[in-house]
Amino acid sequence: MKILAIETSCDETAAAILGDSELLSSVVSSQMESHEKYGGVVPELAGRHHVEMINNVVKNACEKANITIDEIDLFAGTRGPGLAAALLVGTTSAKSYAFAMGKPFVGVHHHEAHLLSVLMEHENVEFPFVSLLVSGGHTMIVIVDEPGSYRVLGGTIDDAAGEAYDKVARLIGLGYPGGPLIDKLAEEGNPKAFNLPRPMKKDPFNTSFSGLKTAVKHLIRDNPQARKEDICASFQAAVVDSLIEKTKAALELLSKESNSAKSLTIGGGVAANSYLRERTIQLANEYSIRALIPDRSMCTDNAAMIAVAAQVHYKKRGADSLDVGIKPNWPLSDL
Ligand code: KG4
Ligand code: ZN
Repeated sequence: MKILAIETSCDETAAAILGDSELLSSVVSSQMESHEKYGGVVPELAGRHHVEMINNVVKNACEKANITIDEIDLFAGTRGPGLAAALLVGTTSAKSYAFAMGKPFVGVHHHEAHLLSVLMEHENVEFPFVSLLVSGGHTMIVIVDEPGSYRVLGGTIDDAAGEAYDKVARLIGLGYPGGPLIDKLAEEGNPKAFNLPRPMKKDPFNTSFSGLKTAVKHLIRDNPQARKEDICASFQAAVVDSLIEKTKAALELLSKESNSAKSLTIGGGVAANSYLRERTIQLANEYSIRALIPDRSMCTDNAAMIAVAAQVHYKKRGADSLDVGIKPNWPLSDL
């Protein structure tokens, strides 16, 4: 079965083609530059860019896979969560192809796709596994009992991890998106230079990053001579310490159940972070379980993960009606 998947939930227009056992193509067109001057994603602008790009991106994905659209057996699009103006473009496009070609359509949950993307990169993934999903819009700690069965244990009560990176980068005077820039500068800094708060120590699974952001703001105000590298390293240490502590609590929870975690994985844009990747591997080693670390290209939004989730979804639940709409706010627990 060949699946053509489309992802347009935020600021990446992406299409991918998945064959029975291998990814045939994955194309991502980023709009980052258009949003950079606004310091964040502007929904209407994102929608307009998706409309401009979608047909070319799909065409490119078909060319790279060396197949024509009539060879596709299943069309998939991200239904949510995400920006309404952006989601509409990809879902409508995937449904239109399905309708025109007389083939089935599947609407995919964006976070389920991040969680299941490990199935494409790693063989013989065993369940349950714990996943830390950290992006610009979300921070979640999830137990994946099996494909389609998810327990969201907690997450952030305010800013998402990526959002915190982006906001702190703005405070320091770096560009957008801030995550990769802070990651790079932190390599040259001292993580112990400033003692920043580790948020919500008493809550096992939830975290909060707005207080940490305020602490960085005060730090900059009170130490105008502070090296950017040291601020970045200290901020990053606080974020990652907090995320790892909450992830560890999820592993502990599972170890008390009859079926302990078989592996640990990370996903979402912040999973590209070098220090978080290093600490995740350390934590998995501590529990003697597999660390399923995605390739950096699989961390940020892409359509290959949408295709994998569509494959699982189609096997389990069959096709969706072409009448289904987008779901900008779609809790994972509703699946
Ligand atoms: O998953 P994603 O591509 O888009 C959504 O938010 O859905 O994640 C983007 C976020 C941005 O906030 C960006 O700053 C952050 O991921 N990010 C990183 C790194 N690369 C991207 N944060 C920390 N370190 C990185 N290396
Ligand atoms: Zn995402």
